[in-house]
Amino acid sequence: MDMSFSRVMTDGPVTPETYRNVMGSLPAGVCVITIRSADNRLHGVTATSFTSLSLDPPLVQWSLRREAWSHDQMTTVERFGVSILSAEQEELARRFATPMIDRFEALDIHGEPDGPPFLPGAQAWIDCSTETLLPGGDHTIVVGRVHEAQVFDVRPLLFWRGAFHSV
Ligand SMILES: Cc1cc2nc3c(=O)[nH]c(=O)nc-3n(C[C@H](O)[C@H](O)[C@H](O)COP(=O)(O)O)c2cc1C
Repeated sequence: MDMSFSRVMTDGPVTPETYRNVMGSLPAGVCVITIRSADNRLHGVTATSFTSLSLDPPLVQWSLRREAWSHDQMTTVERFGVSILSAEQEELARRFATPMIDRFEALDIHGEPDGPPFLPGAQAWIDCSTETLLPGGDHTIVVGRVHEAQVFDVRPLLFWRGAFHSV
């Protein structure tokens, strides 16, 4: 048994480091959540917090750090898109978490002209409307309703213990 992570066990208060180590043990799919703002600008952020919430009605949820630069734009739009990244898209996962760059540069995006953009080469695209916003500590929880989705036959990108992996 690999005991290298046992050192993060704690019997006291959970420090941010312990919390990060523990939650980093949960393998997560990697998404890029995107919007088109009212003034036709594109925004997108890498997120592992995206998950399913309800089957009927079909609801999803994700959370965005309240101090994120795009927080107000991402949480005030009616629609958002989710591109679930594929194994080959580690570069995009990093790009959509990098500040002060044009994250959409040279990307052949898909989607309706007035809707959220979807990233080419993703595993799946999900078109959502914003249903509810909830407070979640230092994050805002966004609940979305799924309207359309497409799935492609490619392998997933995963994030586990601070690094990207593929199955
Ligand atoms: C693998 C990975 C997963 C992430 N998941 C989230 C997430 O679920 N929620 C979040 O707010 N930030 C998450 N981030 C950080 C954001 O992508 C990053 O802070 C981004 O720059 C925020 O965009 P903005 O500040 O330009 O609006 C993640 C970053 C990485 C690399």
